Formats: sequence, C-alpha cells, structure tokens
Amino acid sequence: MTAHHTLEATGLTLGYRDRTVIDDLDLDIPPGAITAIVGANACGKSTLLRSMSRLLSPRAGQVLLDGREVHRMPAKKLARQLGLLPQSPVAPEGITVADLVGRGRNPHQGMLSRWSVEDDAAVAAALAATDSLALADRSVDELSGGQRQRVWISMALAQQTDLLLLDEPTTFLDVAHQVEILDLLVDLNNDRGTTIVMVLHDLNLAARYADHLVAIADGRVHCAGTPGEVFTSDMVRAVFGLDCRVIEDPTSGRPLMLPLGRHGVRVSDTAG
Ligand SMILES: Nc1ncnc2c1ncn2[C@@H]1O[C@H](COP(=O)(O)OP(=O)(O)O)[C@@H](O)[C@H]1O
Ligand SMILES: [Mg+2]
Repeated sequence: MTAHHTLEATGLTLGYRDRTVIDDLDLDIPPGAITAIVGANACGKSTLLRSMSRLLSPRAGQVLLDGREVHRMPAKKLARQLGLLPQSPVAPEGITVADLVGRGRNPHQGMLSRWSVEDDAAVAAALAATDSLALADRSVDELSGGQRQRVWISMALAQQTDLLLLDEPTTFLDVAHQVEILDLLVDLNNDRGTTIVMVLHDLNLAARYADHLVAIADGRVHCAGTPGEVFTSDMVRAVFGLDCRVIEDPTSGRPLMLPLGRHGVRVSDTAG
C-alpha cells in the first residue's frame, strides 16, 4: 500500500512569455482519490499538470507536495513519488517498447546501480497491465496511435509512483481501450492507493471514473467537488459554452451529459 501524499497549488500563476494562462489558482488534490480535471481547449490544463510535476516554473505561487515546494525538489527524488504522462510525449527515435517502458525505472536507479530483476518485473507488469506485452520488442515509431498511448501509460506505471498525473490518457484509444485504461487506473487506486490526477476530455467518462472533479475556466478553478456536485448543465454552459442536459447514468448513477446541438435534438425530449 502506498503512502498518501498531499498535493496542492496555492496562488499559482503560470504563463508563457507575455501570456498568463493560469492566474492565482488554488487547488487541492485529495490524497488517495481519483481526480479528473476538465475544461475547454487551451484553458491551461496541460500547463497546470506540467507545473504540478515541476516541468514549468510558476510565475507566482507554489505547488506543494507534502508541504514541500516541488520546484525545489531534486528531479529524481520527485520522480520516485510523482509520475507524469504528458499530453504529447516524444519517444527517442528507434527505441523499442521494452526500452521505453524501462526508462520509467530511471528514478529508482542510483548512479552505479545496475538494471535489476525487480526492474524487469516492473516493466513486464506494466506492459501486461495495458495489454501491451506482445509489443515489447517492436519499435515505438511503428506503432499505431492507440498502441503507442498504451506503451506510454506502461512507462508511467513502471515508474511505480504514489501519485500519477496523466494528461488525456485516453487519447487515440478506441472506446474499449479507453474503458480498459480507466478501469486499470481505478484498480491501481483501489489496490495500491495511488493518487490519480488526470485530464479528461470526455466529461461523461470523467464523471464516471473520478471521485473528485475540477473544472478550470478563466485561469482558475471554476468549481470542484464530487461529480454530483460539479457536473451540472450550468457548469457545462459556463465552462464550455455548451447547452446540454444532464441526466443520471443508468449504469453508474453518475451524471451523464447529453449535448444539445443545433441539430438532431427532438424538441419534446429537451424539456427539463
Ligand atoms: N510552450 C508554450 N509556449 C507558448 N504558449 C503555450 C505553450 N504551451 C501552451 N501554450 C498556450 O497556453 C495556453 C494553454 O495551453 P494548454 O495548457 O496546453 O491548454 P489545454 O491543455 O487546456 O488545452 C494555450 O493558449 C496555448 O497556446
Ligand atoms: Mg492539454
């Protein structure tokens, strides 16, 4: 069982050159839970995740892991506790799947320590978890988008961190693999107590899989809470500018969003 860590942002301001993207944001990640971050395109979700994993320095404010500023922690020490799957990771040219996933073990290796049996086991388990064992000897360059995404998730799993941040982990995946990956993250959370923070585009999957939902708009947290509290048609209108109807998902009891576009909506169905 993993230790539960606190991760929080206070007064966090992030940006690029003359543009401020995240502005004085406060955020608490509940330890040992699954948090989904949602928000419109370009609202700063990836920027926020990168900063929480120390890849982008704040202009103001702090990101605190167990009360310590992540931007002052040595990279390797942080990487043993917190893993990030970026939105568009780039693999070294020609690298094999097994070698890429093996890089997830780097934070666990000292300067002189060799690759161990434990590292082998971690890589094999991570590949098995994403249904990618058969890809081990393939070159990452030649994989389909969905296969590649599963391999990157394997690399993050091989890192075996107590906190795992994933930026749109279901991109490129067909619907079955999306559900499989999200189920896998729930298993990880249940079995090891891993704290999961993920950016998800699909609001319905976010509502279904997250314990805690955070909606970002205008550089700040628009609202945060359980999916039941946060996921309302008012939130969807405010955050995405979309009119929708929210009903109860008959399979999970969680909120389910039905967008009201200009077409394909029967007037009699849109009441309420
Ligand atoms: N490396 C960068 N340099 C300059 N601007 C960037 C960079 N990365 C992201 N941005 C800008 O910051 C804003 C937020 O981007 P991002 O965090 O990727 O949004 P999201 O993940 O919510 O779609 C966008 O306007 C984007 O163009
Ligand atoms: Mg993004």
